Amino acid sequence: MLPTTLLAAFLPLLGYVLAQEEGQISGPTSSASAAGYSCDATKCKLPNCNCASTDPPGGLSPSDVPMFVVFTADDAIQTYTLDAVNQFLAHRKNPNGCQPKITYYTSLNYTNYTLVTDWYVAGNEIADHTMTHVGTPPEDEVTGNLIALNQLAGIPLSSIIGFRAPYLNYSVDTLKMLAKLGFTYDSSSSASVPVTDDGTDAFWPYTLDYGMANDCLVVDGLCKGQPVLPGFWEIPMYAMFDERGADGPHLMDPWLDTANGQSTVNDSATLEYMKSTFTAHYKGKRQPFGLYTHPIHVSTTVPGATVSNSTINMINEFLDWAQEQQDVWIVNSEQLLEWVRNPVPVSQLDSFAPLKCSTPAVDSSTKICNGIPQNEEGLLDHCAFSDFPFYTCYGCPEEPPTPSNPSPPQTTESGHVARFRLPANCSTPFWDPIKGTCICNSSSCAFTDQSRPIGPNGANLTGDQVSSGSQDGEPSQSANPYVPFNAAAPGALPAGAWSAMAVGVVGAVLGAMGAFSRL
Ligand SMILES: *[C@@H]1O[C@H](CO)[C@@H](O)[C@H](O)[C@H]1NC(C)=O
Ligand SMILES: *[C@@H]1O[C@H](CO)[C@@H](O)[C@H](O)[C@H]1NC(C)=O
Ligand SMILES: *[C@@H]1O[C@H](CO)[C@@H](O)[C@H](O)[C@H]1NC(C)=O
Ligand SMILES: *[C@@H]1O[C@H](CO)[C@@H](O)[C@H](O)[C@H]1NC(C)=O
Ligand SMILES: *[C@@H]1O[C@H](CO)[C@@H](O)[C@H](O)[C@H]1NC(C)=O
Ligand SMILES: *[C@@H]1O[C@H](CO)[C@@H](O)[C@H](O)[C@H]1NC(C)=O
Ligand SMILES: *[C@@H]1O[C@H](CO)[C@@H](O)[C@H](O)[C@H]1NC(C)=O
Ligand SMILES: *[C@@H]1O[C@H](CO)[C@@H](O)[C@H](O)[C@H]1NC(C)=O
Repeated sequence: MLPTTLLAAFLPLLGYVLAQEEGQISGPTSSASAAGYSCDATKCKLPNCNCASTDPPGGLSPSDVPMFVVFTADDAIQTYTLDAVNQFLAHRKNPNGCQPKITYYTSLNYTNYTLVTDWYVAGNEIADHTMTHVGTPPEDEVTGNLIALNQLAGIPLSSIIGFRAPYLNYSVDTLKMLAKLGFTYDSSSSASVPVTDDGTDAFWPYTLDYGMANDCLVVDGLCKGQPVLPGFWEIPMYAMFDERGADGPHLMDPWLDTANGQSTVNDSATLEYMKSTFTAHYKGKRQPFGLYTHPIHVSTTVPGATVSNSTINMINEFLDWAQEQQDVWIVNSEQLLEWVRNPVPVSQLDSFAPLKCSTPAVDSSTKICNGIPQNEEGLLDHCAFSDFPFYTCYGCPEEPPTPSNPSPPQTTESGHVARFRLPANCSTPFWDPIKGTCICNSSSCAFTDQSRPIGPNGANLTGDQVSSGSQDGEPSQSANPYVPFNAAAPGALPAGAWSAMAVGVVGAVLGAMGAFSRL
């Protein structure tokens, strides 16, 4: 926690420093009898219906199932929060050579819109977390977020498909509203009983054709068949458990919690239960493992940062350890859901499009405000609002967006020139909001696939060895202009983050630096 005076001084710059209370649970949030769940698997079939089940989708046996580590971030997108995510992921690769992409459940207080554009164009998922971060949100908080992200960050409406409730505070009506608004999924519920316990609620993502089966003890009117929302998905958030088992759950930002009933935070104890929970999933039915973060708490660049290097190193040590194991993939919610809807065995992941990575083919010398830092340099519009100033490619509004007015008219005061906002028929990286033109009009010039072939015939399918490699067909990391797209000089990373990396990563890092210096 920051000292109050410091907090006040930096308020306009900060994200939700007070979010520490968010996303904690203290015991089971569901039970079989509270769930009263029954689903007809002969009628409920993929890709648009899936029963709540601890078994992997598609009847796959666990050994054919990838072990997904779902990485999400909540709240404001700022340099501070992206720095925090990058220190864990920018140097990593999945088994197919692609840098992991996350879901950012974005709320708009303190959000710097141009960084949302950049994060999206770099391949991450942008999802809805309400405009001003309210629990059991009214509809305008949810739709206003869509509109403002579309108008001021150029995120296509069609790509914002997911929602997470602030404070994980939602109701039956929230779910009904999301389904009505055309969202594909919610990810606000908890899976709160260990996978190794009887009556675990660690279900794979499922549709609400037969109601909810999570959070039955904590949300009124949920479960026993309600609410019926055919084709609408719930992606439970999977808790971790310390030595106390079901009595020691940890859900979001586990590194902020004390473990095993102790009175102080102990990174070694956190690491121990993160590993043991991961292993229980990995050796069991491979339900996804989740790292659900409020990145501001682990940012070293936010003014007044108090995070310890030991915590950052611990999280990297966990990811290093997880990635050394076979068939481990770090994914976002959307990728997880794509796989659940179309569950191919690990042997076929090579051709599975949602896990691939591609970069938009835009010449680095082109001056265009498109979410690619080297292209848009010097072209951003600065919106100097007193509460939270931000930058955007799409023209400053007259006043900050609010739920009642999420897209105020553009200002042309003090030198601001009105810009063209993203049309539905052009992709964000190809739209020139200054000229109002789409620089790409055919599918062939659009994206370049950057993934490498994986593991022919049982080759090592771990993520970490990829970066050391010189295998044929593997794109060098320097081919990816986004790695790490908002990175400061490498020296700005905590020293520990470097020492925690596998030796093999060093070559890739140097490659990335080479790319960076050429931009
Ligand atoms: C906002 O984005 C601009 C442009 O990328 C950057 O220069 C600035 O540092 C960012 N500020 C914050 C607080 O994110
Ligand atoms: C978000 O910003 C609005 C408008 O400035 C303000 O009314 C609201 O209290 C803020 N909410 C939070 C959680 O900071
Ligand atoms: C959930 O949010 C609503 C509306 O903001 C609030 O009244 C309620 O107290 C919250 N519930 C919990 C458990 O935080
Ligand atoms: C921290 O946790 C580790 C692992 O559980 C334990 O060995 C150690 O004694 C703990 N340290 C303190 C100060 O409690
Ligand atoms: C997109 O739609 C606009 C308006 O309907 C049209 O003028 C333009 O040619 C279209 N652009 C492309 C690339 O299809
Ligand atoms: C497509 O774009 C190219 C330039 O990238 C341009 O020469 C061509 O005329 C465009 N075609 C159409 C049908 O707009
Ligand atoms: C895969 O690679 C990792 C890291 O390089 C190594 O620890 C592990 O032993 C390898 N596994 C196999 C089956 O080769
Ligand atoms: C944490 O790491 C930073 C960056 O390497 C370093 O400047 C700082 O001194 C370290 N802090 C401690 C307490 O080790």
